[in-house]
Amino acid sequence: MSSDIKKRDMINELTEILDSGDLTKAVIFYDETLGKYPECSEILSLRNGIIVRIRKAISEVTGKEGIDALAKFSKSPEIAHLDVGNGCNLRCVYCWEATRPEHLNVVALPTEELKKKLIWMKDIGVKKARISGFGEVTIMPNWAEVVRFAQELGLKTGLITNLSKRLSEKEIEVLAGVDEITISVDTLNEEKSAEIRKGLRIEVLKDNLRALRLKKPYPSAPIIGWNSVTMAETLDDLAQLVEEGIEFGAHGFMFNSMFVLQGLKGATPIGFLPPAGILYAKECLLRAQKIAKDAGRYCIIDAALYDLIMGNNQVKNKCNTAPSGVVIGKSNQSHYLEGYFEPVRPGNTRLCLHPWNHLTLTGKTEVAVCCEVGGVELPAENTYSSGPLFELKKGLLTGNLAQNCQKCRLAPEVSVEAQQYNVLKLYRKTGNSPS
Ligand SMILES: C[S@@+](CC[C@H](N)C(=O)[O-])C[C@H]1O[C@@H](n2cnc3c(N)ncnc32)[C@H](O)[C@@H]1O
Ligand code: SF4
Ligand code: SF4
Repeated sequence: MSSDIKKRDMINELTEILDSGDLTKAVIFYDETLGKYPECSEILSLRNGIIVRIRKAISEVTGKEGIDALAKFSKSPEIAHLDVGNGCNLRCVYCWEATRPEHLNVVALPTEELKKKLIWMKDIGVKKARISGFGEVTIMPNWAEVVRFAQELGLKTGLITNLSKRLSEKEIEVLAGVDEITISVDTLNEEKSAEIRKGLRIEVLKDNLRALRLKKPYPSAPIIGWNSVTMAETLDDLAQLVEEGIEFGAHGFMFNSMFVLQGLKGATPIGFLPPAGILYAKECLLRAQKIAKDAGRYCIIDAALYDLIMGNNQVKNKCNTAPSGVVIGKSNQSHYLEGYFEPVRPGNTRLCLHPWNHLTLTGKTEVAVCCEVGGVELPAENTYSSGPLFELKKGLLTGNLAQNCQKCRLAPEVSVEAQQYNVLKLYRKTGNSPS
């Protein structure tokens, strides 16, 4: 295709995006495609037009306060994560948590401390506590007490677990009262599991599930989702995984792309496969998805993985050499993006809503807005409109990024206007503006 035809196609696509009204998507699309032809005045004026529209929308909605209004507001997070401690019973080869020294020691956070955090969550309007750990929640001695306390407060509860500790009758009872359980399971093949998720015994996982579903048969709650990290080694097993998941009363399935850690061995991310391998991944994932959907279960393939197998990806088959880890895949909708270790360029920022709508309660006093920031100390009475969180948000809106956001591995680099409009959309949605 000649470069003129290519440009024309891209202009047409951009026009369609603009017609849909999503200016964030438009500016990102522009920067990733047409922005490569800065010498063309028609193209440059297109971008200027988008930026003018974004600025106008912001001032119409927020008035004089402008960016400050966007930095001040926060959507009261409906869901907040509560981390109950460190340590895990498995050593999954791909897991970023398993690379932390704390992974080896099971240390539960004190129950009273966790209860205080749950009360605080309730006070600020959180509806659901998703309880997990920097490791495995069910091996913390106080996990059941923490879940019960959250329920007594009237919070809905969710658990993220590998479900591979043999649970007692009492623990199954507590589990049966949880609203939503996310179970991490990549394959039911014993041998492969032993290689990839070291320490996992599939029989124990199945026994726990049987006991749970005996108490609460499908389709009653808990809503059970099976979440898999997708890799070349397990593609052949996905259809069976879904078939058995259906029998075990799963409500649905989620296939995720893999964050790639430096020095990763024993698991091959789909993005690292040659084209024939990616095609095979597509076959296996779509087959598994069909089995789930035919049985009336949901089945989500995450955006980066979906883009990759459908061929509309910009994934690079390379491993970044940054010290802390690498992410593969690239998609505007997804957090699973590649190579965000470089400091962002002037005029740019990161596309991120975490500080506006997401909370993780971590160690003793810290509240993190995301697992990357890893702890912004927040006085509860001063959470949203001033202080450290306000500064962090303002930085994301202006490109004056906090150190952790500079180094972030999760959020893609975009122009400040794209991020501003993204926040504006949330601002409108939360009823902060008349439009
Ligand atoms: C860190 S674990 C903690 C909870 C629990 N131990 C478990 O495995 O369910 C949270 C989730 O992250 C996923 N995970 C771990 N390493 C990953 C990676 N490199 N890429 C994508 N997901 C990953 C796990 O499969 C799990 O679903
Ligand atoms: S079970 Fe979860 S936390 Fe433990 S190593 Fe595996 S993915 Fe990581
Ligand atoms: S560190 Fe990354 S994910 Fe966390 S708030 Fe900053 S940009 Fe968002």
